Amino acid sequence: MLDARKAGKHKSVMENDPLVRAAVDVRLRAYAPYSRFPVGAAVETVDGRIFTGCNVENAAYPEGSCAEAGAIAAMAAAGGRRIRRVVVCGGGAAPCTPCGGCRQKIREFAAAETPVIMVSPAGERLLERTLSDLLPDSFGPGNLG
Ligand code: THU
Repeated sequence: MLDARKAGKHKSVMENDPLVRAAVDVRLRAYAPYSRFPVGAAVETVDGRIFTGCNVENAAYPEGSCAEAGAIAAMAAAGGRRIRRVVVCGGGAAPCTPCGGCRQKIREFAAAETPVIMVSPAGERLLERTLSDLLPDSFGPGNLG
């Protein structure tokens, strides 16, 4: 990775992608005093709008919410219904992939091929998957007939 970056084969910075920047920035506002694991998420709608969310924990631990859930709630409240891309920014070197519940939440508003991009706090792309990679054979609105 480092060598490839030096050779200019990877864009390791976020300057060209406002969605990445949005996820990186909102992570700084996470409320994560219990896990000390701040997460930021940004979703882009098909009409180009960006909505963000961070994890918000609670002293009653199960009442905490994930970054992706916050971003999706903001999108829905603004009338957004179709997600074009998702970026998740966690800490450390390992990509922060969405939890199972958040995969299903994304599924409600995104197509199988929708990219889900995991980045570092510096905006480096760590991993890219499609929604169907993360949630194969998923259950969605169409399954309800
Ligand atoms: N978390 C997220 O916000 N999104 C993810 O994709 C994975 C986990 C949060 C939940 C909790 O506040 C903290 O990270 C540690 O699990």
